Amino acid sequence: MATENKALITLFGATGDLAKRKLYTSLFKLYQKGYLADHFALLGTSRHEMSDEEFQEMVLDSIKDIPAKDGEAEEFSKHFFYCAHDVTKPEHYAKLRDRLAELDKQFGTEGNRLFYMSMAPQFFGTIAINIKKQGLLTDDGYNRLVIEKPFGRDFDSAKKLNDELSQTFEENQIFRIDHYLGKEMVQNIQALRFGNPVIEALWNNRYIDNIQVTLSEKLGVEERAGYYDHSGALRDMLQNHIMQVVAQLAMEEPVAFTDDDVRVEKIKALRSLRVYTPSQAAANFVRGQYGAEGSQPAYRNEDGVDPESGTETFVAAKLMFDNYRWSGVPFYVRTGKKLADKFTRIDVVFKKPLIDIFANPNSGNEQALHSNVLTIFVEPKSGFALQLNAKHVGQGYTTEPVDLKFLQSDSAKKESPEPYERLFHDALEGNHTNFASWAEIAYAWKFVDVIRNLWDIEKPQFPNYTPGSMGPAAASELLARDGRKWVYDLNK
Ligand code: BG6
Repeated sequence: MATENKALITLFGATGDLAKRKLYTSLFKLYQKGYLADHFALLGTSRHEMSDEEFQEMVLDSIKDIPAKDGEAEEFSKHFFYCAHDVTKPEHYAKLRDRLAELDKQFGTEGNRLFYMSMAPQFFGTIAINIKKQGLLTDDGYNRLVIEKPFGRDFDSAKKLNDELSQTFEENQIFRIDHYLGKEMVQNIQALRFGNPVIEALWNNRYIDNIQVTLSEKLGVEERAGYYDHSGALRDMLQNHIMQVVAQLAMEEPVAFTDDDVRVEKIKALRSLRVYTPSQAAANFVRGQYGAEGSQPAYRNEDGVDPESGTETFVAAKLMFDNYRWSGVPFYVRTGKKLADKFTRIDVVFKKPLIDIFANPNSGNEQALHSNVLTIFVEPKSGFALQLNAKHVGQGYTTEPVDLKFLQSDSAKKESPEPYERLFHDALEGNHTNFASWAEIAYAWKFVDVIRNLWDIEKPQFPNYTPGSMGPAAASELLARDGRKWVYDLNK
């Protein structure tokens, strides 16, 4: 049985794309399941003038494709209210304050306030400071802040933002969204590792040769060029999503599966990530930008992109952790736009046996055994596969790789909540497990800043990869020079 969360949500950026595509639909699903019921309300804000009724229509339109009982969507929409607001004008917050006080009474939300920032990041700090100064916090229930990415552009700006947020909210009141942490299979990493001695016993540098993380996208920048051209793949995907996935793969077992315990271990893992010197960073990072293909324009010719743009749409890197568990084991990561396909996967490549008793030079069979590989399919398939060596069926004795595979069924996947639904629910419950802490973000920026600073001054040779490929040749060379290959490779 779902327990109702009593909450009054203030949404900054209520007419934005994310709100319409993800936030209202997630809240509606929580409502349908009973996690939200009579005692919740949402006060939306943005600069546009709009009545409550118009806002409710907008919400109804966002959720129209979700199957619902008669009247359910309309009932739900009655919990939504609107207040036009300029976040830079302190006097505007008085209106919000009064409206919140009324809604709190009307819906019996018992002083539980959740502020959600889903708008241009330059305003995050200003809003947080005004929330406190203009008296929007309550003393009765909880005050929480949910904040969308990007969390800064580098360590210094992230620290400045964090300092601003800290004037109003304590660390345990801040929920920094990284939607990868809301994905079923990313959450499953910990169950797989810490629920299975057969896996965890081998999860170290004695048995693992390398780990590969791929976040591949088929689409280009679409309508987001304005943002993306100032961000690039390093900031857009690596600093946040990839680092969070890697932290889960690298962390030690937490004392218990609680948010505080998990956080401590992720922070510890990221603390041991080797921060490269500039010359090491140059050797261990690869950047790329897609060119044209057929009628598809090159990145530089996309609408809204600087025709001389040096922004990377692809990044690959080799990460090293200097700790007892991972010393000597590279984590290779890559992500890019306009690659071969849309998928996210993790390949854990185990070491080969020290001696291959099946190799028979006389028959030319010198490389009989393959590496065992544990693949975690995050999306669009969800599941695991373990590649083992087995005897080839039939006369003679040769070995071949076979897969032990578990894939979630379509119906299980359908029932699995989307990341935003999970994360909203976690924030309402006050559970931090699937949110990034400040310390994690700070370590991630310190790691990324070294290469960013270098790339910002060195002009790249772009474009350097074809749409539909897996990025520039240098991404394969990054592994080849270590005598390794990407497990997922189009040229196999
Ligand atoms: C976002 C990035 O954080 O993640 C986008 O800003 C990217 O550029 C998206 O497309 C990918 O998310 P997903 O869930 O589709 O893999």
